[in-house]
Amino acid sequence: MQQDWQQQINSAQELKTLDELRVQLLGKNGLITQQLKTLGSLNQEDRKTKGAEINALKDLLTSAIEEKKSLLEQQALELRLVNEKIDITLPARPEMVGKTHPISKVISDITKYFSQNGFQVFDGPHIDTQEHNFDALNIPPHHPARQSHDTFYIEDSDEVLRTHTSTVQIRTLRNHKPPIRFLAPGRTFRSDYDATHTPMFHQMEGVVIEENINFAHLKGTIIDFCRWFFEDPNLKLRFRPSFFPFTEPSAEVDIGWSNDKWLEVLGCGMIHPTVLANCDIDSTKYQGFAFGMGMERFAMLKYGINDIRAFYDGDTRWLDMYGFGSIS
Ligand code: PHE
Repeated sequence: MQQDWQQQINSAQELKTLDELRVQLLGKNGLITQQLKTLGSLNQEDRKTKGAEINALKDLLTSAIEEKKSLLEQQALELRLVNEKIDITLPARPEMVGKTHPISKVISDITKYFSQNGFQVFDGPHIDTQEHNFDALNIPPHHPARQSHDTFYIEDSDEVLRTHTSTVQIRTLRNHKPPIRFLAPGRTFRSDYDATHTPMFHQMEGVVIEENINFAHLKGTIIDFCRWFFEDPNLKLRFRPSFFPFTEPSAEVDIGWSNDKWLEVLGCGMIHPTVLANCDIDSTKYQGFAFGMGMERFAMLKYGINDIRAFYDGDTRWLDMYGFGSIS
């Protein structure tokens, strides 16, 4: 009989079955209790032997149930551990790959090109004085150029959002003496908005001041640069006489595009002696030229982008198409 119970305990597959067995054997009305009740009808001698037997059986069953119980609990735990495991070997979600914005690309390419020819890079603040933006550049207060720049004025202040990178001509030339060659790329601001103008855009200023610099140096520099940039050794260029208060003579440069169309790409000229004097540079000793070009215009022409506003929409699909990877 003891064998039987032991067998049943061993073959229990679930904690619930085991617990039912426990109640059946050791419970208040269980087998052991019932057997103990029979002791009353026995004589003292038999009661002693029988009692000891029953107690021994009780101990045996109790420890058999305990043992089986911890085994079943252990198995249940192992099952949970297997089922609830997180598979950390799952492949990661696809990575987002960033791209270089065409404006950044154009600025860095042009900077690299000119740095090979001895140009340094200088910077200036976006908010600057009217003195740097206009006066020192030979644009007096009444001058129509102040209006034509659609300037953003700062209220109750002498400052403006710089309308061109030419501010950096003044800032640099007041602190660094010639001979000098430098570039000043950066953001510029004018109150203007359509398919070819945004209120914020980018310019790149170029300046060379040395002894005996003349207009031929300016022409050669611009022609070589444009042919390199647009990857066309036969690119047609046209220097059209123009006017800027800070250069004399001044020119605007057009490039010959498809079927005899000309497109303006930059302004340039020989730095005006007044500007040199404003920076304490002796114009009888040093001459120089400057040019200023719109980075958006260069990027649009080179990469076939036709609406300037797309540069600033922040659309990642657009950037995916027009942006540049690390090796392009
Ligand atoms: N600053 C001029 C502009 O924004 C461009 C320019 C720069 C012209 C340098 C001549 C020399 O229109």
